[in-house]
Amino acid sequence: MDAIREKNKKDIYILGIETSCDDTCASVVKNGSVILSNVVSSQNEIHRKYGGVVPEIASRKHIEVIDIVINEALERSGINLDKIDAVSVTNRPGLIGSLLVGVGAAKAISYSKNIPLVAVNHLKAHIYSNILKNPDIKGGFIGLVVSGGHSSLYFVDSDWNIKEIGHTVDDAAGEAYDKIARYLGLGYPGGPIIDRLSKRGDPYYIDFPKPMMNSGDFNFSFSGLKTSLIYRTKKDEKLTARKNIPSLAASFQKSIVDVLTEKTIKAASKFGVKNILISGGVAANSKLREEFLRKGRENNIKIFIPPLYLCMDNAAMVACLGYYRYLEGRFDDLKVDVYSRSDI
Ligand code: KG4
Ligand code: ZN
Repeated sequence: MDAIREKNKKDIYILGIETSCDDTCASVVKNGSVILSNVVSSQNEIHRKYGGVVPEIASRKHIEVIDIVINEALERSGINLDKIDAVSVTNRPGLIGSLLVGVGAAKAISYSKNIPLVAVNHLKAHIYSNILKNPDIKGGFIGLVVSGGHSSLYFVDSDWNIKEIGHTVDDAAGEAYDKIARYLGLGYPGGPIIDRLSKRGDPYYIDFPKPMMNSGDFNFSFSGLKTSLIYRTKKDEKLTARKNIPSLAASFQKSIVDVLTEKTIKAASKFGVKNILISGGVAANSKLREEFLRKGRENNIKIFIPPLYLCMDNAAMVACLGYYRYLEGRFDDLKVDVYSRSDI
């Protein structure tokens, strides 16, 4: 990939489309790193009352706004559809009904404008959210993707081959945040709320377990932590008194952050790399960012974390990954399908 980047001279404009979950996103990116527009239409308000994403509602909402979001992204970029070189879209993994909307729109544009279609993996696109801002990163790093649906570690070798080295065996980190926020009646999505409350709390208030911290592999588990919080608060109701909520949240968050940072740093040392790229919605967490940067300094490892607006689902990361696929000439045809599950 490094060699391909060197060779390219002409400006390339990629239209990215992302609809794998509940955000309808479109973006125009020039040369894989200049974000000309990045439009995100969030459905949080709609799903809030259910405490989580309702797939049927998500796909219907995508249908309502997809054209508006794509047109808005083109308009803000100042790039006419006729100047777009390729359309890149997430086709896996995700909610089938949601994915179909983005992929349908991308196919229509590819066919009508006779431009290449590139279908990409959402998790890989999250990793590329770091490459978007640091296009000179060389292969040979550990990638951590932590979101509402995934908590996985990857080793990316010097030829940019990506190998999963660990994943959650039950809940994803973001899912644990969301479920605990719902249990405590704090709102949705839970991650930002618990993050905010934790700033006023004592992280040593309760010593929650740190699941799989010493499991000897690079897998994660967050379901037991959630059960532990529920069990402890049912046994002792004063823990959930209003004044104690920030400390309860901070203690819960400390376990998640400790496990994610420790195991990721261990992975870097085992694979002998000096760079770690963190991405996904949970990478927006202020404590996680702070701890990664601190442990990175301690261990002489460089930590890359995207700006907040690129941690959450977005189409700029999809366009960025699509750019490298475009340079390699790896296109998809109009028969390309969508998949709820997929290896990276
Ligand atoms: O990457 P993303 O936008 O969508 C998925 O692909 O899942 O991630 C959404 C997840 C949600 O679970 C949300 O609660 C979590 O990211 N999240 C956070 C924070 N902001 C978003 N978790 C912890 N701290 C945050 N500040
Ligand atoms: Zn995501």
